[in-house]
Amino acid sequence: MQERTETIFETQFEEDVYTGLTDYPKHLSSKYFYDEKGDKLFQDIMNMPEYYLTNAEFDIFTTHTDEITQLFAKDSRHFNLIELGAGDGKKTKILLQNLINNNIPFKYLPIDISQHVLDQLSDSLKKEIPKVSVKTQQGTYFEALKNIASLTDDKKVILFLGSNIGNLLHSQAIEFLTKVQELMSKGDLFFVGFDQKKNPQSILNAYNDPKGITAAFNKNVLARINTELGGNFDLDKFLHWEVYDPESGTAKSYLVSKEQQSVVVEKLDLKIDFAYWETIHTEISQKYDDRTVAWLAEKSGLQIDTQFTDSKNQYKNYAFKKAY
Ligand code: AVJ
Repeated sequence: MQERTETIFETQFEEDVYTGLTDYPKHLSSKYFYDEKGDKLFQDIMNMPEYYLTNAEFDIFTTHTDEITQLFAKDSRHFNLIELGAGDGKKTKILLQNLINNNIPFKYLPIDISQHVLDQLSDSLKKEIPKVSVKTQQGTYFEALKNIASLTDDKKVILFLGSNIGNLLHSQAIEFLTKVQELMSKGDLFFVGFDQKKNPQSILNAYNDPKGITAAFNKNVLARINTELGGNFDLDKFLHWEVYDPESGTAKSYLVSKEQQSVVVEKLDLKIDFAYWETIHTEISQKYDDRTVAWLAEKSGLQIDTQFTDSKNQYKNYAFKKAY
């Protein structure tokens, strides 16, 4: 039984936690993995040997630096290189350095929800590639992108890397791609990373490492509920569980209750009961094939311009342009 007397939420997090934990089956959004501790855990994930995605995209950026540079600089107009969800910029820096080396005129505009991430990125850029002109924008992708689109007619090259699109269901991905497409002009490019379907075992290994880093990352949403909303989740009483469906290409993460238990979230005035082995669905990490990407592009008013693959055929970056 869930009981609650008042229904005023102060934050989106509170509302989403309430909705997700009182729903059946239960769910929580993976966007809440990322506080300072979650950012750190994701860094650790990117350094794990099992998490091939980062290396694969890094491989594409290092092997195809010149081609990508030429693609972005094709009509030799000054352009804005806009990155949605910039993170530590490890891959983008290869490109930034090459653009600088070739004296190509551009500005780098990383957008991230976390000011902390943006500060770290601009500090490291000042040290590593001081010649690059950077202007960070804190906020949600669309607000920031809309803002940039309204301020200037400069050509836009928009980066969305790391297979971050994989956190979206196809319907949500189409909505997202369409919104970006609508903010693009003719000549603009949208450069997106898509993790590919592959041996299902490699995918399971990437999301279920033996050291339990991914498990800690998944459970970080519970840790946040504890610290931010006065929850009393015992993290040891939940099991991180990963499944992958090789037909749909969808990897899903769950937290499974190892026992029948009740949890209280004080700030929400909420008591949540868990049945033995009851689940909380927390994340999807979609894997793609060519047909699916072509379909998503078509549904979103985009046209595939170019694509790049890593040497092990694990991952692809697609450059899209406006279809009409
Ligand atoms: C940052 C969304 C691309 O789904 O692969 C890593 C997050 N989750 N390990 C992914 C994640 C578990 C990651 N993305």
